[in-house]
Amino acid sequence: MNYREEIERLKKEQDAVILAHFYVDDDVQDIADYIGDSFFLAKKAAELECETIVFCGVEFMGESAKLLNPEKRVLMPEPDAGCPMANMIYKEVIDKARAEYDDLAVVCYVNSTAEAKSWSDVCVTSSNALKIVSNLPQKNILFIPDVHLGTWLSQQLPDKHFIFNDGFCPIHESMDVQQIRDLKAEHPNAKVLVHPECPQWIRDEADYIGATSGIISQAVEGDADEYIIGTVVGVKHEIEKRLGYLGKDPADCPKKFYFPKTTPVCVNMRKITVEKTYNCLVTGAGEVQLNPETEDAARLTLTRMLEYAAK
Ligand code: 13P
Ligand code: SF4
Repeated sequence: MNYREEIERLKKEQDAVILAHFYVDDDVQDIADYIGDSFFLAKKAAELECETIVFCGVEFMGESAKLLNPEKRVLMPEPDAGCPMANMIYKEVIDKARAEYDDLAVVCYVNSTAEAKSWSDVCVTSSNALKIVSNLPQKNILFIPDVHLGTWLSQQLPDKHFIFNDGFCPIHESMDVQQIRDLKAEHPNAKVLVHPECPQWIRDEADYIGATSGIISQAVEGDADEYIIGTVVGVKHEIEKRLGYLGKDPADCPKKFYFPKTTPVCVNMRKITVEKTYNCLVTGAGEVQLNPETEDAARLTLTRMLEYAAK
């Protein structure tokens, strides 16, 4: 069967739009109507006018799309694709900070469950966190769940007092700093681009720290000919596409991209396949359901992100 053709037919039949994150496999990116970082995809989900959204990403992304579109059907081709960091926060941490500080904002990285969002004041993604947090009136910021993104923000916002939680992304945290140093030694003119989910010891090696969309723009538009990239390898597909080298011999590309030897792959994003995307359109399985007890509060936290980011 030609899955691509069948998916196109089912999309038309069901008025469906496919959203995909840069971390999914290349062939899944290729069937998407929109590919982006988590902020772009949340914004896109909020403005779509279709009946069905198929979200090729991890659970919190589908959940966010549903929070922003309660009346639409949101399908996850692989409902088992979770983000481990999303669960790395306990309500007690928030209760303790709220009891301790009057002037507190609970800032929740979008990589979190809807329940964690419902306990929080505002969501952020790595591409809008600096803008949103710097404009918050509160001095004290409890940043959940990611300690590394929180620490990176705190270093740029010395007037704020940050309280951290100990969540992390297993993929970015387990990246081997020696492999990055080895690449730097082999390619001394290369610029090092890393995601802020990387721990301090990796960020210390970087020339640029930013969300996946920022990393892609730097790699495509930057003056350097070589780049060492510290994030999930899926971003390479978009970089090559924007440079016009997709499907061509990478040796012909004037720019070179190097990833750590232990290739960073998000195992959960990788669970999503073209076949599963087709299957969910056929069967309607994998529909995102929200908990009615927490959805309104979670939605408010998420819509505040869109509102504050647009200011
Ligand atoms: P972006 O906000 O850069 O898309 O990152 C999402 C993510 O899950 C990174 O691990
Ligand atoms: Fe979660 Fe890390 Fe995968 Fe991003 S790369 S979805 S933070 S596990």
